[in-house]
Amino acid sequence: MKKRNHKKESSHFFFNRFTLNHLFIVCYLGVINVYAQSNTAVEEKITRIISKMTVDQKIGQLALRGTSSRSKDLPEQLKQDVKNGKIGAFLNVMNKAYVDELQRIAIEESPQGIPLIFARDVIHGFKTIFPIPLGLAASWDAETAKSAARVSAIEASSFGIRWTFAPMLDIAQDSRWGRIAESPGEDPYLASILAKAYVEGFQNNDLSQPTSLAACAKHFIGYGAAIGGRDYNTAIIHQPLLHNTYLKPFEAALAAGAPTVMTSFNEINGVPASGNKWLLNDILRGKLDFKGFVVSDWNSTTGMIDHGYAKNEKHTAELSFNAGLDMEMTSKSYENHLKELLEEKKITETQLDFLVANILRVKFQLDLFKNPYRSKTFTGNYYDQKHLDLAKKAVIKSSVLLKNNAILPLNKNTKVAVIGPLANAPLEQLGTWIFDGDKKHTQTPTSAFTNNKVNFKFTEGLSYSRDTSTQGFKKALEIAEASDVILFFGGEEAILSGEAHSRASIDLPGKQEALIKALAKTGKPIVLVIMGGRPLSITNIIDDVDAVLMAWHPGTMGGPAIYEMLWGKSEPQGRLPVSWPKTAGQLPLFYNHKSTGRPFDPKSFVQMDSIPVGAWQSSLGNTTHYLDLGAAPHFPFGYGLGYTRFSYKNLKISKTTISKNETVSLSVTITNTGKNAGSDIVQLYIQDIVGSLTRPVKELKRFKPIFLEKGETKTVEFTITPKDLMFVNNTLQPVLESGDFNVFVGNNSANTLKTTFTLN
Ligand code: NOJ
Repeated sequence: MKKRNHKKESSHFFFNRFTLNHLFIVCYLGVINVYAQSNTAVEEKITRIISKMTVDQKIGQLALRGTSSRSKDLPEQLKQDVKNGKIGAFLNVMNKAYVDELQRIAIEESPQGIPLIFARDVIHGFKTIFPIPLGLAASWDAETAKSAARVSAIEASSFGIRWTFAPMLDIAQDSRWGRIAESPGEDPYLASILAKAYVEGFQNNDLSQPTSLAACAKHFIGYGAAIGGRDYNTAIIHQPLLHNTYLKPFEAALAAGAPTVMTSFNEINGVPASGNKWLLNDILRGKLDFKGFVVSDWNSTTGMIDHGYAKNEKHTAELSFNAGLDMEMTSKSYENHLKELLEEKKITETQLDFLVANILRVKFQLDLFKNPYRSKTFTGNYYDQKHLDLAKKAVIKSSVLLKNNAILPLNKNTKVAVIGPLANAPLEQLGTWIFDGDKKHTQTPTSAFTNNKVNFKFTEGLSYSRDTSTQGFKKALEIAEASDVILFFGGEEAILSGEAHSRASIDLPGKQEALIKALAKTGKPIVLVIMGGRPLSITNIIDDVDAVLMAWHPGTMGGPAIYEMLWGKSEPQGRLPVSWPKTAGQLPLFYNHKSTGRPFDPKSFVQMDSIPVGAWQSSLGNTTHYLDLGAAPHFPFGYGLGYTRFSYKNLKISKTTISKNETVSLSVTITNTGKNAGSDIVQLYIQDIVGSLTRPVKELKRFKPIFLEKGETKTVEFTITPKDLMFVNNTLQPVLESGDFNVFVGNNSANTLKTTFTLN
């Protein structure tokens, strides 16, 4: 896989000097050769194995089976199935003895001795839980994502797991969708950087190592575009949009060496992904040159019957098989029907061999033929101090300070009232997809406050996020009255986001708003710390609180990290990876939208309540907006405060006109004008003003973190290449079109300096 990366990276077209070009061509050919040689040896082995396999054994390799990790005995039938070569891989076998025994049977007793792969959803940690992926995305930091993935792989591989169903790379623009929690957010550039980092972290640049997990880029594709944020729902994505946005993170994951891809549950433009030949064959294997294997999602093949695309289970098998889906997760359409379909000549054995080869190739990459067994010398070091330290750092990198009326950081001796359903909720702060994380190890805010001798009193006020009882209000008000500052820990329980957990309202559930409003009447300053799987609407209470810190579901080390941030030992460093809506009515919402023929103009916006009764009907002067909300989000993409302030000045551009093989450099001067040292993320956006296809109003193209001492000034530079200006047009060609471009630089997508250049 490594070799393949080199090949991809080297194909960067932007070398224009002859010597470099020459060197490049020599290296490029060299790399291909080495790759081809090592490949040939493996391919020969694969061909040899396949030539000895019966049709039944071949079909067996395409089966991914689950087991119950709770059962006391290893079911006899399962052992028989492995012995007979009827299973290629397992998911969720969370009993080490079963893993060892099943693998032993596969190696010693199955017809060809082909090893099994054991898979698991290791999404944002195995035992040590990191912030949810949307939180990790808020770090805008590849190192943070990579370290989370590395720690996860080290811990999970000790269970014999060598394949994780991650990273999830679904672009998400709708926070009603429960799985936005697992997503990298709304931006394809940021998502691509994270995709690469996750794959590198899981695979450690060498899949053959015992602590490496094969990554699985999922869900292919358009799962996050589900209509109305309703999970599993229909996605309608026109082809240029698919290429310019949704495919981008998948391209990055494959370029980084991800050897597997999972199909999505949804249909896209009328064809379910799991039976979509155009997607799996033409796009994935053709355009993206994918050489690994494609796995279905859980019963997503037979789900095509409910979609109204397949007539029955047999038809499902035919459609998925011919589309190029290699491995079927849990459902058995392949096991039950492929043989019959072969006999009827509806499918070919050549295609069957092709799918088997794709799976065996990954087994070779994982070195399972030589080292099939779980490494016994490796213990996993769950909750190792180093892992906990990285998890704590990840929370600080991910938490987004949305508001601060100079109340944070708190003074050392501040008397604090800690209130709210998530201040001491060990399970809830771990978030979605944490099958293996143990809540006994969770460090909550209240435990961190106790350990750090904070002067605080605690009462939940509401015993869980959806609680509608006001019984706890009285005590909450009492301790609030006796304090200097109220820390309110609100948000959502973990179960309110994740798969099949979409919400129509994104308000704080239960009586949280009522409790915050009651507490506000005490006149004490309120700091709202939100734990949640999605941006939540805080429009109704924003004026009642003095500060808001979004900690997402922060994982095992949420407490100590939040303590450090609130008391200024660390600065919250996250920036929003999604636009934060005012209400659910604004969704879907994303900064990189199109301009429209009547772009939103805050100057002409007339708020609904100021329209006179009986006003003359006219649309003149009106633009694309809601009468009651306007068009802006509550907080824009890229937004986040710290404990100091920065001024951005002197945006300079190296040339105002460039040709199609030139780069352009930009520089901006940033001064820390606040009272503390601090960090920021400098963001560069581009707008292609006129295109043969309309282009987004802004697209993130570069960003750089900076750290400045109080009073310090730094100049940050960026280089934009022609590749950054390209897009896929209506005829699906990547094009570089002449014209004018706006460049925006700032610390979020709405607060930028601007300059322009022309591409000739
Ligand atoms: C269904 C989910 O959609 C997918 O993301 C997950 O990996 C599989 N189930 C396996 O648990």
